[in-house]
Amino acid sequence: MAATLTVADLMHKPAVVVPTNITLAEASKVLDGNNVGAAAVLDESGQLRGMVSERDLLHSVGHGIDPSTTTVAEVMTANPVTLTVSDSVEDAMDIFRDRRFRHLPVLDDGQVAGILSIRHVVRVAHIEEVRPAGSAPPGLAPRGLEGVAVAETSVGDVRGEEGFFHYRGYNATELARRCSFEQVWHLLAEGELPADEQLRAFTTRAVEARVLPPGVAELLPPIAALPAYSPLMALRSAVSITGAALGSKPTLDIPAEETRRECLRMAAVVPVLLMRLHRHHLGMPPVDPDPDLGYAASYLQMLTGERPTPRAARALEQYLILTMDHGFNASTFTARVITSTGSDIGSALTGAIGALAGPLHGGAPSRALAMLDAIGTPDRAEEYLRREIGSGQRLMGFGHRVYKTDDPRSTLLREVATELGGPQVEFARQVEQTALHVLNELKPGRRLYTNVEFYAGVVMNSVGVPPDMFTPTFACSRTVGWTAAIAEQAANNRLIRPSALYVGPSAPRAMPEGYGAYAGGPERVRVEAGS
Ligand code: ACO
Repeated sequence: MAATLTVADLMHKPAVVVPTNITLAEASKVLDGNNVGAAAVLDESGQLRGMVSERDLLHSVGHGIDPSTTTVAEVMTANPVTLTVSDSVEDAMDIFRDRRFRHLPVLDDGQVAGILSIRHVVRVAHIEEVRPAGSAPPGLAPRGLEGVAVAETSVGDVRGEEGFFHYRGYNATELARRCSFEQVWHLLAEGELPADEQLRAFTTRAVEARVLPPGVAELLPPIAALPAYSPLMALRSAVSITGAALGSKPTLDIPAEETRRECLRMAAVVPVLLMRLHRHHLGMPPVDPDPDLGYAASYLQMLTGERPTPRAARALEQYLILTMDHGFNASTFTARVITSTGSDIGSALTGAIGALAGPLHGGAPSRALAMLDAIGTPDRAEEYLRREIGSGQRLMGFGHRVYKTDDPRSTLLREVATELGGPQVEFARQVEQTALHVLNELKPGRRLYTNVEFYAGVVMNSVGVPPDMFTPTFACSRTVGWTAAIAEQAANNRLIRPSALYVGPSAPRAMPEGYGAYAGGPERVRVEAGS
């Protein structure tokens, strides 16, 4: 970072300002209109009283606050930390890093002169200077890109400290409580929750899109018969074939409308592919999707061949909604990288499924269920859990990289599981209580809470999804998130092409003896190979 740079060089100026008594709805318009993430809040005499950010607005709305009657004074960060125009960018960076702010007001002679955003600084900074010192060599982003924002998105976000995630601004758990799969799918695919007529039209299109393209059905039985069959690997291959059968064109060459249409087609067809593969593998005839059933009910019917109870279908639907999207996770990033090359949607989804297949991402919700099986009875829980932690093992279904409070998905899935009822749910609740107590005692201060996987397995098991189909089920709902990300990337594309820090032998190196001149073609290779 250039040593001479000051905050004044980088800040957004003049500052976008709002009065203390403006409502959240009005403030939101001001932020949108100025295309900024935060505004300074000034009192009647023009003095700085606080800062209000897009995050504050989303957080408030996510917690049920009415944006049309609440004023910014009620939600702003009062008496914010300030910078002055002559502060160095390094000093500003220290504050961003230590205090975890994203925007800071900049004063000039006591008056608000601008707003510095962490983005302004990151844009000019070498990434290593944004990280805590010593965490990676100079020139290298943090391992795993942790904490590095690599794109802008309006699909959704995860706020781990708050235990909150949203889809296009709507609290995702509220959506799962109050909406159908198709309504939330429309929100992610089309940008807004649908009105009745829009929902009808969208649902009709989604049902029509479940039909496999010609030639694909015949290719599924051989995949399902592969000796090392696994549902997710088989689905990845089938999605690739389907993309080819649909004549999936490079997103670079098609208009946004066609990209969205194809995204819908692929998201609709993925559960059909998965269920056909599953039933072929078990030697059972495939079950066609019932056009009268919604996504979740149809999913269970294709799995079992029987019409599910409304309760089971709704429980699965809520799980599916909760797992449609979750920030810029590895598979979403993968889908976007592939799309950024201008490639086709089939390729992007095939890559995304490949990323999800890794145990560090798609994980194994079945492992939490396996832990319950291993414990067996409530009286054995404490001893089992203590022994696991004592021997350095992790309790499956607990802890999360991002959530350092209750994982909101686990909170809702616990409710869903409780509504489904049954002895396993009761048992799971007892084990959960014991696990939280034991973790708190043996791993104090680590902030380990129940994660999505603990009750996901219980819910899916209760509605008849077998353990080897847990992660593939997750892949189906996540296809909705992936396709939203693909459409977003394609609509505003720039090739994602980062660089790597070379750490091999110093270059250029002298060639070894005997490599003086090119010595011929294949014959020469054959001679050497035989010598
Ligand atoms: N059980 C016991 N201890 C744990 C657990 C756990 N489930 N999770 C973390 N810890 C402990 C670690 O041992 C470590 O303790 P230490 O300070 O004594 O070394 C401390 O908490 C911090 O652990 P990290 O490895 O830094 O945590 P990280 O953020 O990297 O891990 C993860 C997150 C991978 C989810 C972890 O909590 C875990 O392995 N959980 C169990 C597996 C699981 O449930 N995975 C599904 C996650 S949900 C999802 O990804 C969709």
